[in-house]
Amino acid sequence: MGMSIKLLIEQLSDKLNDDQRELLNAADEEQQRLRSLVDDLLDLSKIEAGKMQMEFQDVAVNSLFQRAQKVMVSQAEEKGIRFEVNTPSEKIIVKADPSKIIWVLTNLIGNALRYTDSGGTIRLNAGIYSRIVYLSVEDTGAGIPPEHQAKIFDKFVQVKNERSTGGTGLGLAICREIVRAHGGTIWVDSEPGKGSKFTFTIPSAYLNKE
Ligand SMILES: Nc1ncnc2c1ncn2[C@@H]1O[C@H](COP(=O)(O)OP(=O)(O)OP(=O)(O)O)[C@@H](O)[C@H]1O
Ligand SMILES: [Mg+2]
Repeated sequence: MGMSIKLLIEQLSDKLNDDQRELLNAADEEQQRLRSLVDDLLDLSKIEAGKMQMEFQDVAVNSLFQRAQKVMVSQAEEKGIRFEVNTPSEKIIVKADPSKIIWVLTNLIGNALRYTDSGGTIRLNAGIYSRIVYLSVEDTGAGIPPEHQAKIFDKFVQVKNERSTGGTGLGLAICREIVRAHGGTIWVDSEPGKGSKFTFTIPSAYLNKE
């Protein structure tokens, strides 16, 4: 459907008046939104049913961070938000499906961008304690009231406020399923008005001092 709307907009470009063009653009945006909703729901039900194909490999945390940063850095620049990546001094290798973990990171960063005002900072951190690797995405944004902190990982849960437009409340539910499929957990530490820090764990493959 997306393709046919785009073709319509292109092929009729000199015949459309402004109202018609606006309508078609709105239809295009709506179909993109619906498609991403359907994709998210399918992903979620596949992981919940244990049917999502996981491709585990040994991968460096630095490379996961770099790839997530590459995807998100321009959005941060556009919003005037500092983006810091604190790569650990030792080389941390995890056993993970890289594209799934990058999905989790970009989703957490996307949320952080939405709930942080310009002038704020988003930080990626990594650490390892007794073979468990901790990855976190921290922001200096709006924060989350304590009574909502446990619930936001459930499907369709959004904290009602002026920014919670657009999304569907599936992002964190998918993050949690992906992290679970890696044998890890995910949680949030947050203080309203100060910011939020989302942390998740994945098992290390081995530890290599550089
Ligand atoms: N970094 C954050 N700062 C403040 N609130 C957050 C942050 N991340 C998530 N939240 C809260 O948790 C809710 C759930 O997040 P989730 O990513 O699951 O859904 P969404 O971003 O609203 O929609 P979707 O991810 O489906 O587009 C958000 O609606 C928001 O209220
Ligand atoms: Mg989200």
